Amino acid sequence: MEKYLINPNEKKSQISKDIYGNFSEHLGRCIYEGLYVGENSDIPNVNGMRIDVVNALKDMGLPVLRWPGGCFADEYHWEDGVGPKENRKKMINTHWGGVTEDNSFGTHEFFELCGQIGCDAYITGNLGSGSVREMSEWVEYMTFGGDSPMSNLRRKNGREEPWRVKYFAVGNENWGCGGNMDAYYYANTYKKYATYVRNYDSGNRIYKVACGPNGEDYRWTEELMKTAGRNMDGLALHYYTITHNWSKKGSATEFNEDEYYACVSKAYKIDEIIRRHLEIMNRYDPAKRVDLIIDEWGTWHDVEPGTNPGFLYQQNTMRDAVVAALSLNIFNKHSDRIRMCNIAQTINVLQAVALTDGDEMVLTPTYFVFKMFKDHQQNTLLGSHVTTDESGCEQGRLPTLIESASEDENGVIYSTVVNTSATDKKQIKCQVADSSVKSVKAEILTGKIEAYNSFDNKEAVKTQAFYDFETTADGFTAELPPCSIVKFIIEK
Ligand code: AHR
Repeated sequence: MEKYLINPNEKKSQISKDIYGNFSEHLGRCIYEGLYVGENSDIPNVNGMRIDVVNALKDMGLPVLRWPGGCFADEYHWEDGVGPKENRKKMINTHWGGVTEDNSFGTHEFFELCGQIGCDAYITGNLGSGSVREMSEWVEYMTFGGDSPMSNLRRKNGREEPWRVKYFAVGNENWGCGGNMDAYYYANTYKKYATYVRNYDSGNRIYKVACGPNGEDYRWTEELMKTAGRNMDGLALHYYTITHNWSKKGSATEFNEDEYYACVSKAYKIDEIIRRHLEIMNRYDPAKRVDLIIDEWGTWHDVEPGTNPGFLYQQNTMRDAVVAALSLNIFNKHSDRIRMCNIAQTINVLQAVALTDGDEMVLTPTYFVFKMFKDHQQNTLLGSHVTTDESGCEQGRLPTLIESASEDENGVIYSTVVNTSATDKKQIKCQVADSSVKSVKAEILTGKIEAYNSFDNKEAVKTQAFYDFETTADGFTAELPPCSIVKFIIEK
């Protein structure tokens, strides 16, 4: 029996709701078909946005959406995506399948989507192939309320009031697809572009995000913090979980137990990566003013057989759910320094929360994790600790139990515990320090490691009420099935 202690006396950081963000790129069927079908589609929509998907994202509590890329962002020219749709310039999406992009989903459509979901906007600007002026004018177009060439153009295109841009990234992966720059060159270029990302009269103070490191590239973080740390609000790390390697990533649905552990143990590595980047950031910024952002994370498997390799369409199993849950628990634990995270990507691309096929939609196991965990948003992280052994194989090991706990403003505690073992159930005895516990409720997401929801069987994996626990005077005892994620709601 493992011991699990939650300490309501140890109140830590507030868990930013934006840790539960998503990322949507003009890539494959994420924007077109996944989110946006156009006003004339037979698929039920409001102003072109799919009703089923918007409702699912609302229910999931999506707080913030990143757009338009990704690699796409650094070749996106926003002016081509505003004004009458029939006049919009087309372009080739060179990164993703070489398909023609008709720009029918642009700035106005993105804000319409955010409005329908009820989430904030995170925009990525084009530093790789766009000019300083272009970036600056986009910000003016979106956020200036007075009389100016760009705000008047916005009005002419049908929008009187400025929008609120909560976050703005000055480029994406500029060490790679965003211009192949070295860290020093990017840091200086960042400063130049960021200077002209202005705050206007609307009271919208833009939070500026700099392109951060690729995974374990600690030198990038060092240089960025040294040269441009004073000029940014957040530094954006990207970390993808790949079972094997970039040339043979591995199937999303057909894998054995060793491959399960190879994948989930690589996901767990993000904890160490976060710590090491934070050590560097804290050295240059002892006041801890600059936040760590993780605006691309999640699993990257081989595409589904028969699909366009440039569209990055993959299925999503309980293995992905375990990756999502352990990652979100880790992000919660670092919420003193992590302000926002955006899983890649929302619909039909990489570790998506939903998949679509024509007018049908399937919610993935990852969706259910986000929905279960939404209770943590804006709560206070509590001190908590669970004793645990390790699970794994030669390809990788990780703690069997990974948890986090938070408290809402009414003192209700939410604890999310992952049992990463593919085969073994785990017993835990939870004690809530200095408290008498009135009631405990729980829900569970569990299944075989390779279980997934398909268009033929949409509910193979879903959250269910969990009863396999007993409430005690100061907590509970529970038996967690293998490959499970359990949320406990504890009232004192
Ligand atoms: O999410 C897919 C791609 O991965 C993004 O476009 C890019 O930023 C990253 O390399």
